[in-house]
Amino acid sequence: MKSFALPHIQFMTAYAPPLENRSVYQGLRLDFNERTIAPPRAVREALKSFALELYPEYADLSDRIAVYTGVKADQVMVTNGSDQGMDLIFRTFTQPDDVVIIPSPSFAMYEQCAQICGNRIIQPLYVGENLDFPFEEVMQNLTSNVRLVVLCNPNNPTGTPIPLEQIELILRKALETRAVVYVDEAYAEFSGETSVLLLSQYPNLVLTRTFSKAFGIPSLRVGYVVASSELIGDLLKVRGPYDVNMAGACAARAALFAVDEIQAYAKEVMEQAKPMVEQFFREAGVWFCPSRANFLLFRPTEPSREVFKQLEANGILIRPRKGPNIDNTIRLSIGTVAQMEEFIFTYKRLFL
Ligand SMILES: Cc1ncc(COP(=O)(O)O)c(C=O)c1O
Repeated sequence: MKSFALPHIQFMTAYAPPLENRSVYQGLRLDFNERTIAPPRAVREALKSFALELYPEYADLSDRIAVYTGVKADQVMVTNGSDQGMDLIFRTFTQPDDVVIIPSPSFAMYEQCAQICGNRIIQPLYVGENLDFPFEEVMQNLTSNVRLVVLCNPNNPTGTPIPLEQIELILRKALETRAVVYVDEAYAEFSGETSVLLLSQYPNLVLTRTFSKAFGIPSLRVGYVVASSELIGDLLKVRGPYDVNMAGACAARAALFAVDEIQAYAKEVMEQAKPMVEQFFREAGVWFCPSRANFLLFRPTEPSREVFKQLEANGILIRPRKGPNIDNTIRLSIGTVAQMEEFIFTYKRLFL
């Protein structure tokens, strides 16, 4: 039978990350850039104390997020994971045939959102030995028919940071051509960098953040958008009133009260565990991309599928990556020092 779906949807393929059996895997899960230890205890406690029979409400959570990010409460919109924030951004600011710039390789959902909206996609490539952000190419392509520029900072899967000066130059040019600039800050707790301060000067800036990474509750699907109150007002027309469930909202709120624990984890990952793995790769002559996030993209000397299989059989999940300029690479999430010692020990035993 012919599909009932719109023609451009028929041409798409679903984004289906390899999730099967992860929750019962008895080993280290270094494949999805998650927090590799349980979230703060207060988060679990909070899940015991909300009214199941009521519709969810988010005012208090939005207030706390506003304090945490340094903006006003009407500049925050809570979403069902940052995935929903990105979907709303595409649906609110673009229409079919609009041009969107999505530097590549990057997080797969941007392309998915653009395809759903019927956008035309321009994909400048991260290039060079360090897979640098293609600033010049983004600027050259930022012409009057571009409606949205997507900047993943730091970028997944390369970990590449985008210098704030470059973001500002893109914002300035985009303001002239009336394009929205969307900065995805899913890994901001690890990178320590944000474009939030640019919001006061650039009404065309919109950011997403998440509770799925450093905060450790991806299962509960909570993210948020930060932008001017006007942009948030428009996005709220597109989001449903109860799209985030109350369990997620309660847990996120509790996690914000335990922000010291979140920061301590991010510090261990970025200041101890990651440098240790980098040092190991350097000594072993393994190429890796300089990263400002809680993951490293590296190129094994053996085929990445083979490395994946052997590590999986020896208690470690990683994520092989392929695509323009990243063929035969692996994205390795960084966890605690003890976990990364285990990774190094196993990798040495199997491959060196
Ligand atoms: C860059 C980036 N943005 C967004 C997301 C989605 O996060 P969430 O769980 O908040 O939907 C991810 C998840 O891997 C990501 O890497």
